[in-house]
Amino acid sequence: MTHEFSHLRTGGAAGGIIADPAARPTAIEADAVVTFLTEGGVGSGAIAEIDATTGGLLSRLVAAGEITGKRYECVPILAAPGLKAGQIVVVGLGKREEVDAGVIYRAAATAARHLAGRPRAKVVFVADGSWTTRQTEQAVAGAAVGMVGQDLYRTEKKRTRFGSTVWLVAPPEAVARGVVISEGVNLARRLVNMPPDDLYPQTFSEEAASAAGRTGMEVEIWDEEQLSRERCQAILAVGRGSNRPPRLVILRYRGPGAQADQPDLAFVGKGVTFDSGGLSLKPSESMLTMKCDMSGGAAVLAAAATIAALKLPVNLVAAIGLVENMTGPAAYKLGDVITARSGTTIEIHNTDAEGRVVLADVLDVVRGFKPKRIIDAATLTGACMVALGHDVAGLFSNDQDCCNDVAEAARAVGEPVWQLPMYADYDDQIRSDVADIKNVGDGRWGGAITAAKFLERFVGGIPWTHVDIAGPAFAEKPRPWTDGGGTGSFVRPLVELARGPE
Ligand code: BES
Ligand code: MN
Ligand code: ZN
Repeated sequence: MTHEFSHLRTGGAAGGIIADPAARPTAIEADAVVTFLTEGGVGSGAIAEIDATTGGLLSRLVAAGEITGKRYECVPILAAPGLKAGQIVVVGLGKREEVDAGVIYRAAATAARHLAGRPRAKVVFVADGSWTTRQTEQAVAGAAVGMVGQDLYRTEKKRTRFGSTVWLVAPPEAVARGVVISEGVNLARRLVNMPPDDLYPQTFSEEAASAAGRTGMEVEIWDEEQLSRERCQAILAVGRGSNRPPRLVILRYRGPGAQADQPDLAFVGKGVTFDSGGLSLKPSESMLTMKCDMSGGAAVLAAAATIAALKLPVNLVAAIGLVENMTGPAAYKLGDVITARSGTTIEIHNTDAEGRVVLADVLDVVRGFKPKRIIDAATLTGACMVALGHDVAGLFSNDQDCCNDVAEAARAVGEPVWQLPMYADYDDQIRSDVADIKNVGDGRWGGAITAAKFLERFVGGIPWTHVDIAGPAFAEKPRPWTDGGGTGSFVRPLVELARGPE
């Protein structure tokens, strides 16, 4: 079976990923067969079949404690007797009652990442018959993400995509959708991993246009003249320190049966293609990874493209504010007062708090579409990482139902999130003596919240949730399921949100 929506893939020779519901794991010829194991031991189904065919090899190894089924444990068993495949890879899912879509995604990615360490012509994955369709999709997505590393610019590649991948015990539609989701995640990762001299506002906007072309979205790109006509002075101010002019990308998608006029959803992404801090210059160590500061924009683009490729029945608008935050002679300065597109005036106290200034105009643009809900994704604050660490995204909202739906979508795909409060008292901290608001809080405490409070001023009362992905967007070190670099954070939750509950 070849899947019907392969519009998202770019670069790199990816082999086909197909479902073969009829094949037996013991009889199929392959370089490797990947099977999933919980701490409960060898259960029933396909894994029991492998166990029986190998004369109880798996259960003996489990009894001996050589295989535990602990989360992301990855045990290759070479040349197992009775099998056509060259090896079995047993990957752990942890405790059965704690298995969810996120664990399954990461376990599949762990096995794929391990096997992709050298070229493999054909790899077979055996889904667990007890998984839901959505869980199977996430397994397929994880496996296709795990075999891709951050090799874009490496002469000798560390990971090689499998020549072909075959999924057993998986519904073909789930495999096809999982592949599309993986292409979205890998698109976001590729953009985040591109160096800032290759990915800057203009080239990002070209990437957006080509993703739109492949998936059937309408795209509009505002250059600096258009931004000026549209009074986007906040975006223009942040972009002034760079010789790479800013851009605003607007994507539109109307799915089959979706409401014609009003967007159900608006996605907004922070696309700072490099954040030097501007005149409030970052120290070298903090600046090193600031090519990742467009991760929210990448997530929004990739999620919109995935939603369009899946032909989901929603009316969606997505907008990405693209700037490079630099220190050139025209750079915006501390003490500057900028009139944002909405008319709100912003006093600049720190040019490194640039993301919120850019998003002020982007939020105002999407507000014009009168969407039912706005979700923004942004690597907005280091403070959010202080609060929640590397793996958890912060949620901030003016509407609890909207926030609950975002949290539920993230939970369904296993990306951890945590909501932080938006008490009115925080508003006092962004009051300015000379303008309507200033771009940082009164001290650094609660910095993730004062940033969200700033954004709230530009959503005009529309139900809105802000997702601060400063922690999860970029992995400085490799993890069992991913090489370092861009993670594709929040692509899957945004797609899930557009689908609604299973
Ligand atoms: N892009 C950064 C936030 C960030 C930090 C993202 C680390 C990913 C990893 C943002 O523009 C920023 O610099 N925020 C400042 C705000 C401060 C000046 C109020 C911060 O968090 O230090
Ligand atoms: Mn900054
Ligand atoms: Zn930034």
